[in-house]
Amino acid sequence: MTTVDLPLLPLGRGVDLNSERGVECPGDLPAASDPDLVARALAAKAALGDKVFVLGHHYQRDEVIQFADVTGDSFKLARDAAARPDAEFIVFCGVHFMAESADILTGSQQQVILPDLAAGCSMADMARLTQVEMAWEAMTAAGVADSVVPVTYMNSSADIKAFCGRNGGVVCTSSNAEVALEWAFEQKPDAKVLFLPDQHLGRNTAVLKMGLTLDDCVVWDPHRPNGGLTEEELRDATMILWKGHCSVHGRFSEEVVDELRATIPDIQILVHPECKHEVVLKADLVGSTEFIISTIEAAPAGSSWAIGTELNLVKRLAAAHPDKRITFLDKTVCYCSTMNRIDLPHFVWAMESLVAGQVVNRIEVDPETEKHALVALERMLALPGKTHKD
Ligand code: 13P
Ligand code: SF4
Repeated sequence: MTTVDLPLLPLGRGVDLNSERGVECPGDLPAASDPDLVARALAAKAALGDKVFVLGHHYQRDEVIQFADVTGDSFKLARDAAARPDAEFIVFCGVHFMAESADILTGSQQQVILPDLAAGCSMADMARLTQVEMAWEAMTAAGVADSVVPVTYMNSSADIKAFCGRNGGVVCTSSNAEVALEWAFEQKPDAKVLFLPDQHLGRNTAVLKMGLTLDDCVVWDPHRPNGGLTEEELRDATMILWKGHCSVHGRFSEEVVDELRATIPDIQILVHPECKHEVVLKADLVGSTEFIISTIEAAPAGSSWAIGTELNLVKRLAAAHPDKRITFLDKTVCYCSTMNRIDLPHFVWAMESLVAGQVVNRIEVDPETEKHALVALERMLALPGKTHKD
């Protein structure tokens, strides 16, 4: 079959819009109905030539991803951005934390552009620096901070990455969380990990890859006094999971897994590690977006799959593999609404502005934050290559 199996429902608002960054474009955003948008994007890209390098995350819309020079998951895009020192402009079709990471990893002569500044990430917003610093103070008071190694998921703001850099920690992505945790546990005798901000990636990696148990994990709730934990619980824990999650991946449920297994014989369930632990336990395979793509590419014709990740990617995989049956692992249509904010009008506006000599929506991390965040990002890039993409 050629189309992804989906119910006919209106577009879901998968995540909150990030109003704090919701800077509107000036009035010259092209109309979405403009029939020349594709031609305008092509012309702007041709005019800019090698000066521009366009990065596209796998969750981007088709109308935008067609213009990407490279596509990838967050890990691959961070590496690709770092590998293009000659491009004057990096246009990042993804979300804010990815553009920040690209700015940190690229040279000071390069400028990173996010076509819509409201393309944030609700998960990244769940860990604020002041909250993390308060948690660290509480861990210090409990006498455990000296043995804690902070590990932050790429899906976090630059100042959280800088916190990890300053405190002996590292960044990880869904491609290399296992290697990053191995590294973290080797840093100190009896090390504990503070895992930010996605409790699900932290728990799934700790329990399914590192041999820890659910009892080794506690959840730090930044909205409760002392994270909702006693000092004894903090001292006994090996993994301190920040109470954050992805609103898109949080939708996938055990019930739908059971229903699909009952209705489609031999279906294989393939999910992203941002899904809840109960869902991951019921899945056949778990991995980053790059892993999901390579798994489907390698799958035999006629095989059946239900995929638990963002819908733009699942629809693209279904279209690219008409010989395989590909089903979305949720009953409702659910895109990441902030990823979807990068649409063709914003892309054309950003590119044509560059042609006209105007840099719009530049993402620039302040030098002090950048210095420490770079330490944590470089520690990640130096990890041994046991990732899904290598
Ligand atoms: P990866 O790109 O690491 O697979 O992460 C998925 C995601 O949610 C990005 O926001
Ligand atoms: Fe953030 Fe989830 Fe959207 Fe990724 S899919 S950008 S983690 S809200």
